[in-house]
Amino acid sequence: MNEEEKKRYLERYKEKKADGELFFPHAIAKDAVVSLGVFILLLCLVVFVGIPEEPPANPADTSYIPRPEWYFLWAFQALKYFPGQLEGVAIMGMGLLIAVGLFGLPFFDRNSRRHPRNRPVATLSMIGIVVGLIFLTIQAVVTTPHSEATGTIIGGTKEERIQAGGELYAQHCAECHGENGEGAELKGKAGEVTDPLNSDDFLTGHFDDTIFQLISYGQPGAGMQAFGLAYGGPLTDQEINAIIAFMRAWAEPEEEPAEALVDLAAIENPSFAKDIKPIFDKKCASCHSKRLKGGYSVATYELVMTSGDHAPVIIPGDAANSILAKMLRGIKTEAGGLMPPGRPLKQAQIELIERWINQGAQNN
Ligand code: HEC
Ligand code: HEC
Repeated sequence: MNEEEKKRYLERYKEKKADGELFFPHAIAKDAVVSLGVFILLLCLVVFVGIPEEPPANPADTSYIPRPEWYFLWAFQALKYFPGQLEGVAIMGMGLLIAVGLFGLPFFDRNSRRHPRNRPVATLSMIGIVVGLIFLTIQAVVTTPHSEATGTIIGGTKEERIQAGGELYAQHCAECHGENGEGAELKGKAGEVTDPLNSDDFLTGHFDDTIFQLISYGQPGAGMQAFGLAYGGPLTDQEINAIIAFMRAWAEPEEEPAEALVDLAAIENPSFAKDIKPIFDKKCASCHSKRLKGGYSVATYELVMTSGDHAPVIIPGDAANSILAKMLRGIKTEAGGLMPPGRPLKQAQIELIERWINQGAQNN
């Protein structure tokens, strides 16, 4: 800058300053208005668009791929170019470089010209930095492995999950817990039977999260291995959740089609093997087959007729005085109340069993 230029510059500076505005209140007011605008915009976004929700943090989820927010992705990506031990150096180095650079700017950039076109080095550096940041960000996004959203490996619909869960259950769990969670004898431990998982007690008494933990961590003390990947087991989170969906389906009242129940009403001479046993197997066996609640078993015709702490519980030809029939209707007896506890059979099923008893409770 020569003397001439300098004089002109100072004159213009004086002029500008004379008709300028004060920082307070002008600049402050402008800042306040813009801040308010941004705040209202954010508020509207939150209210009308909503906040993207990620699933709650789950320390047992090994498939989760942690990533920084988008505006830090460039730094995250840049670190990948430094081998392990140098990462720390890089982090410190980058910060130091930026700080020193900004601090030193007034010392090494003495150019009085302000227009970007007159400052090629500064302008090109800045363009380089911005392009670099954009490049690194894009690089980070495209190299991020695709994270499976929960429930996508296994079909999205509830039926598909229950189906997949059923297969996994049969493969991994049925051996010790019975095909439908009714409980089973443990191998090598004669007489030791697992508690039913399909009971109301268990299913209503545990949240999904708790059951998830029970399966994921296993019961190391009792002889059940850990099944979650996080604990060295074979099952992913989705697979465990599918198994839970399958277990939950035990509790849901099966939608017996109305016509099926009408059909029951039409059976005038019910057969034990064809009509009665299937109901016992489905509704009673969980507590009255391998486990013998009340000493009663529905495993065979003989046991149906003769077992029980209050045997006989069936009086052929007299349903009204049979303990079993009374219990099905929830009438209190010396042997206990409603069977199955808490979830009575359908009216048509109860009538069918009563008809069978009244006709002699034969093994037909
Ligand atoms: C080697 C046998 C074995 C296998 C296989 C097994 N379990 Fe278990 N499980 C047990 C034992 C033993 C217990 C201890 C409680 C009991 O005796 O009922 C238990 C307990 C549980 C419990 C807790 C029950 C409670 O009342 O707190 C759940 C839930 C469970 N198992 C689910 C599963 C699922 C789901 C699978 C398949 C992924 C599975 N188990 C596989 C033996 C097994
Ligand atoms: C969730 C477990 C469970 C299911 C399912 C269940 N019961 Fe029971 N049952 C029990 C228990 C527990 C007792 C013992 C009495 C009591 O504590 O109320 C019992 C007792 C009985 C007794 C009396 C036995 C005696 O001589 O003392 C009969 C009969 C009986 N149940 C019939 C049935 C029939 C029939 C079904 C199916 C329609 C059924 N139960 C389903 C748990 C169950």
